[in-house]
Amino acid sequence: MDNRLVPETDRAARMEWLVSSAGLQVRDRAREVWQEAGGDPLRASTALRTSAPQGSGEDLTSEQAAEILLQAELSALATARHGIADDHLLFTRDGLEAATRPVVADHRAALLRTSGATRVLDLTGGLGLDSAAFLRAGLRVTAVERDEATATLLAHNCPTATVIHGDATDPDLLAELLRDLGPADVVFADPARRDPNAARDSRTARARPERDPERWSPPWSFVASIPHPRVAAKVSPSFPAPAPWCAEWVSVDRTVVECAVYSWPVIEPHHRAIVVSSQGLTAVPGSDVTLPESPALGRWLFEIDPAVVRAQATVAALSGSDAGRVGPESTWLTGDTAVDHPAVRSFRVREVLEGNAKQIRRRLAHLGVERASVKCRDVSADPHQIRSSFGLAEGSDPVIIATRRAGHPLMVLVDSPQPLT
Ligand SMILES: C[S@@+](CC[C@H](N)C(=O)[O-])C[C@H]1O[C@@H](n2cnc3c(N)ncnc32)[C@H](O)[C@@H]1O
Repeated sequence: MDNRLVPETDRAARMEWLVSSAGLQVRDRAREVWQEAGGDPLRASTALRTSAPQGSGEDLTSEQAAEILLQAELSALATARHGIADDHLLFTRDGLEAATRPVVADHRAALLRTSGATRVLDLTGGLGLDSAAFLRAGLRVTAVERDEATATLLAHNCPTATVIHGDATDPDLLAELLRDLGPADVVFADPARRDPNAARDSRTARARPERDPERWSPPWSFVASIPHPRVAAKVSPSFPAPAPWCAEWVSVDRTVVECAVYSWPVIEPHHRAIVVSSQGLTAVPGSDVTLPESPALGRWLFEIDPAVVRAQATVAALSGSDAGRVGPESTWLTGDTAVDHPAVRSFRVREVLEGNAKQIRRRLAHLGVERASVKCRDVSADPHQIRSSFGLAEGSDPVIIATRRAGHPLMVLVDSPQPLT
């Protein structure tokens, strides 16, 4: 359902029904119906409306049936894409896209708790994924949300938080809420960086992200001017954190998911990366160490986690080794000893691929390589195009790395990384 086409009052009323005992009862049945219908909205809607238990009095309108089935769909999406596995939670599509993953929210909440906070004022509650983590960490939470329908779901999702439907930039409301905080307590903001009324990407149906921090809601200048000693905010990974704010870039499965900034020195040094992987959370502190450029390509190429690259951090295991940078324009490192670290993937070098596309194609055929994957993190090239220019089908091993060294393009054939024993 496209919320831009639904009057606000209707949306708010639908959400009120959703959180009522009648709505919640139907929701449980909707999950089963959704699965049985294989995710087909029409079949699921018909099945839902005709499967009401006799005499239950349940008489769903088509809007209610659509809303409840949307919940079943979003709940499955929340688990698959964001690792959110909590049957109690209710979602909107935009709210889910903007929500913080529990693993990241729990990390932030633990950081605030350890820093001495007992209360958090969440100025942009959304669906409450951050607020829920603050509550799990034992913090008391007041959450503000401007959108009425979202505020209804927030109150349902975080029943022990104090939820206020209002505009956090209202000076009187803010002043009143700040009065409840002690100096170690924290004001948190996760500004909306996508305007729900803006044009949507035709492929993803998502509103485009707003790059100008003054067009976020609330804008960065508001966040930076909050008169409280401890303010934390979730910002875009490309946002240049202004001094003296600390910054922490977080990646999940090698994708940067957010940057969090803190107005007080809660982390030391003041910038670092948090890498979330199958091995849990690994902190990589920022450093002023810049590894030297390597005079020669070693037996290994090292791919550094993108959060570590953003944080300009250096993995200690690498700075203490023979590793060096492949080149000034390359994010790859090289060395003779493989490194076992959650933020580093070690690729064993087979050989440098020399010559033009035709020569490389011949060489790969000679080596018996018929399929490969191509990684072009440092160069603006299309990996599919490179692969097909070499006459290769898609595969995961070996890998061709396209980067730059000494001002020239460099192609290296490497083995796909294996866990080190
Ligand atoms: C990025 S979402 C927050 C997501 C939330 N941290 C979570 O993990 O579920 C931002 C939310 O802030 C709300 N918002 C935007 N401007 C606001 C304002 N001035 N006052 C209160 N809420 C606002 C939006 O409606 C949206 O729900």
